[in-house]
Amino acid sequence: MADANTFGIAGLLGWPVAHSRSPVIHNHWLAQYGIPGRYVLFPVPPEKLEAAVRGIAVLGLRGCNVTTPHKQAIFPLLDRVDDLARRIGAVNTVVVEHDGALTGFNNDGNGFIQSLRDADAKWSPGSGPILVLGAGGAARAVVASLAAQGAKEIRVANRTPEKSREIREAAGPVVKVVPWEARAEALDGVALLANATSLGSPGKPALEIALDRLPKGALVGDLIYIPPETPLLAAARARGNVTVNGLGLLLNQARPAFKAWFGVMPEITPALRQAIAATF
Ligand code: ATR
Repeated sequence: MADANTFGIAGLLGWPVAHSRSPVIHNHWLAQYGIPGRYVLFPVPPEKLEAAVRGIAVLGLRGCNVTTPHKQAIFPLLDRVDDLARRIGAVNTVVVEHDGALTGFNNDGNGFIQSLRDADAKWSPGSGPILVLGAGGAARAVVASLAAQGAKEIRVANRTPEKSREIREAAGPVVKVVPWEARAEALDGVALLANATSLGSPGKPALEIALDRLPKGALVGDLIYIPPETPLLAAARARGNVTVNGLGLLLNQARPAFKAWFGVMPEITPALRQAIAATF
């Protein structure tokens, strides 16, 4: 936190940024905890990223979130990137340190894991095999965070198998690459099924996967939160599985960022969930 500024500013750096729910979350917490400050949107096109990042500390901002298309491009512009963000290969949060240095973090995977723990206190990443569908940026964050938190076997199935292999190279032998066509068989014995593809989001087909082999006690998480219940989550819930959508990720990744910027670890309350729901 920059001591000279009592009014704290943080925001979201991306292109585009208008759809983001992060301002609702952080501004809700600023009001709740009586902290003078504001979370704002910074629409920054790729060619202006460097100039924008140079301005973060100069202008006395507390830090920012980073979204598409800057999550990788910002790496060389930061003074430090923490280990997990480096392993994920993407930064979603920047914190301005006391000396003005910029440190990059990625809280997405840990936020997702926390939302799963919130839904089922008995589950932990080490509970049993995990099937992750997808191998894009979101899947990389989830896999790296699961591995860091003690997962023993993470099966990764993706339409484009080269990307699953890249994830295995980054995360190590804990990752087993599964052919996309064999995703239903790969449900055998899992404690968690996580959808990190974009299938099920608006304008995309539903994710097709037969759930017959999904154990009854398995958790099913979907990183999508629009719609709040994807066809996958609806089918899993109908079978009696506990399901979690991507809203929990969004809320939980925001907590450590708020703490780093404004000094308070904020709580996810029903009022906050209501404020978010009102934006849909
Ligand atoms: P994000 O950063 O949100 O992960 P992304 O990197 O574009 O976004 O990844 C989207 C994921 O959804 C990828 O795993 C993608 O599979 P490919 O790597 O084969 O592209 C997956 N995906 C998108 N459309 C798909 C489809 N029609 N069938 C199967 N997988 C799909």
